[in-house]
Amino acid sequence: MVSAIVAVSPGWGIGDGKGMLYRLPGDLKYFRSVTLGHPVIMGRKTLESFPGGKPLPGRENIVITRNRNFRPEGVTVVHSLAALRRLVASRPDEHFFVIGGGEIYEKLLPDCETAYVTMVETEPPIVPTVFYPDLSKKRSWVLESASEPHTEENGAVYRFTVWRRRRTH
Ligand SMILES: NC(=O)c1ccc[n+]([C@@H]2O[C@H](COP(=O)([O-])OP(=O)(O)OC[C@H]3O[C@@H](n4cnc5c(N)ncnc54)[C@H](OP(=O)(O)O)[C@@H]3O)[C@@H](O)[C@H]2O)c1
Repeated sequence: MVSAIVAVSPGWGIGDGKGMLYRLPGDLKYFRSVTLGHPVIMGRKTLESFPGGKPLPGRENIVITRNRNFRPEGVTVVHSLAALRRLVASRPDEHFFVIGGGEIYEKLLPDCETAYVTMVETEPPIVPTVFYPDLSKKRSWVLESASEPHTEENGAVYRFTVWRRRRTH
């Protein structure tokens, strides 16, 4: 099974190409609790946006890159979407999480059944240049649940939402 997990601004912005738009400790805790123990899938740029370019602890970090010389320690590297899909298909009992960034979220949206979207209601302090596909505009996706709003000390207000791909009959 493959799910996506992402934090979006109003307008579905996710980053500026270098980093995320907000500092949300409560969302980082949520992200950790949802993904811990599961393999996470990311683009090379997202791995490099982490502190020290280091993989996330407690999870297998699967990174997609076209660069055959890119072999950071503690990371499973794949070189194509086809190779990634073979890896996912070979482990049917696992729950994989796509954790970004924009390019990889977009390319793997057709592989996802569920998207855990932290929807931030306050405008970001940084202008977004990278986006998640706006699921509210997609007929194939439906909002299944939304938490009560949470407020961070820095004033950011957000809800944890779950979106599901509509079943086709
Ligand atoms: N808000 C959130 O929840 C969230 C989560 C994660 C990331 N982000 C943000 O998203 C931004 C980064 O996103 P991004 O779109 O710039 O980059 P990205 O999706 O993280 O990585 C893109 C890279 O993936 C590799 N790639 C893409 N398609 C491939 C394919 N078909 N085969 C092999 N490799 C492929 C390429 O790596 P090579 O160039 O090495 O070949 C490409 O440069 C940052 O601002 C980050 O902070 C936000």
